[in-house]
Amino acid sequence: MSRRDMDVQWERLHQEAVAAMRRAYVPYSGYPVGAAGMASDGTIYTGCNVENSSYGVGLCAECGMISDFVKGGGTELVAFVAVNGNEDPVVPCGRCRQLLFEHGGNELQVAMPSGIMPMSSVLPQGFGPADLTEVPTATFKEVHNG
Ligand code: THU
Repeated sequence: MSRRDMDVQWERLHQEAVAAMRRAYVPYSGYPVGAAGMASDGTIYTGCNVENSSYGVGLCAECGMISDFVKGGGTELVAFVAVNGNEDPVVPCGRCRQLLFEHGGNELQVAMPSGIMPMSSVLPQGFGPADLTEVPTATFKEVHNG
């Protein structure tokens, strides 16, 4: 992919994240977040944060995006951005970095406030499926539901 094509893809991804952010349910924090991830085939998956009157069970925008990705049959995430109500990139929280790492690995490109960086910098030495294979009784099974 050329540099120019990549710029266009980031612009598209950003627009999708902004559209998702506008659907956020944030009556408690007033801090909407929209997340957009691109899979290796170019498909874009999105999510928004969904808060709850039981504050602790609120869902980050990344959770919705990952659910959309898995439900949609996404294979691998290659690019990701989350935006706040100013439409600016936000850093994914710690838990969400783990969610992203599972489906994008070290090569996932993440748009951070400081610029685009690989997941290996966003979550150094992340724990992933490969670590489970180190112990024979703990297994990671590829699941295909048709
Ligand atoms: N939030 C996200 O959706 N993603 C993040 O990575 C950081 C935080 C949400 C959770 C909560 O609804 C609001 O932002 C304020 O913390």
